[in-house]
Amino acid sequence: MNLTLKIWRQKNANDKGKMVDYKVTDISEHMSFLEMLDVLNEQLVNSGDEPVAFDHDCREGICGMCSLYINGEAHGPDREITTCQLHMRSFKDGDTIYIEPFRAAAFPVIKDLVVDRTSFDRIQQAGGYISVNTSGNTQDANSLPIAKADADEAMDAATCIGCGACVATCKNSSAMLFVGAKVSQYALLPQGQVEAADRVMNMVAQMDAEGFGNCTNTGACEVECPKGISLENIARMNREYLKATSKG
Ligand code: SF4
Ligand code: FES
Repeated sequence: MNLTLKIWRQKNANDKGKMVDYKVTDISEHMSFLEMLDVLNEQLVNSGDEPVAFDHDCREGICGMCSLYINGEAHGPDREITTCQLHMRSFKDGDTIYIEPFRAAAFPVIKDLVVDRTSFDRIQQAGGYISVNTSGNTQDANSLPIAKADADEAMDAATCIGCGACVATCKNSSAMLFVGAKVSQYALLPQGQVEAADRVMNMVAQMDAEGFGNCTNTGACEVECPKGISLENIARMNREYLKATSKG
């Protein structure tokens, strides 16, 4: 298929940036979206132009690095997949495709389609862990029985890959689905109880300090999340926060 691409180009964080038109031809419907961008970049390099910078790593929907806003939707038109799992069969010959970076004040553009998501790392560092004794006398995992329903919910929350689509798609640039998932994966398990109060307080404080907006229950984050993280995780984080603050 032959396509027109309208791509956000921005030299660096200080550059104003603009949409630039490109043509790609003979694109197979079996190519992934990122492979289609590889074709464009090869074309640009061969003609002596600067290739389009975009984030990617695993290309298997695992790492959370890919982060494109495609035709006005985070990770493109399909549901519960990342950009790297999107294939060209989701588009038609002759289509015009708009490709932009994930936009949020807390995700500043570094170059072209690459944004700085280290704000998520700092939220994780504020409390997204458990302290365990690994000195050789660790407890046998089977001595801590966990109800199947709790284990399943914790696992669901833990599938968040930290991509930031929830932020990019939210009109408030809220990170509450991400933080809710990270708080929930520990809140549901006995191992997470020791530091539970500090965790939620510190992660929420860091989320606010990074400049993410608040949640107004629109639910766009849940719709665009490639891992189907449920809004229930935001409700659980709010309950954990209330519990922690009421304890003082
Ligand atoms: S909650 Fe979903 S959209 Fe948000 S960072 Fe995690 S995986 Fe990405
Ligand atoms: S490149 Fe790893 S999830 Fe897309």
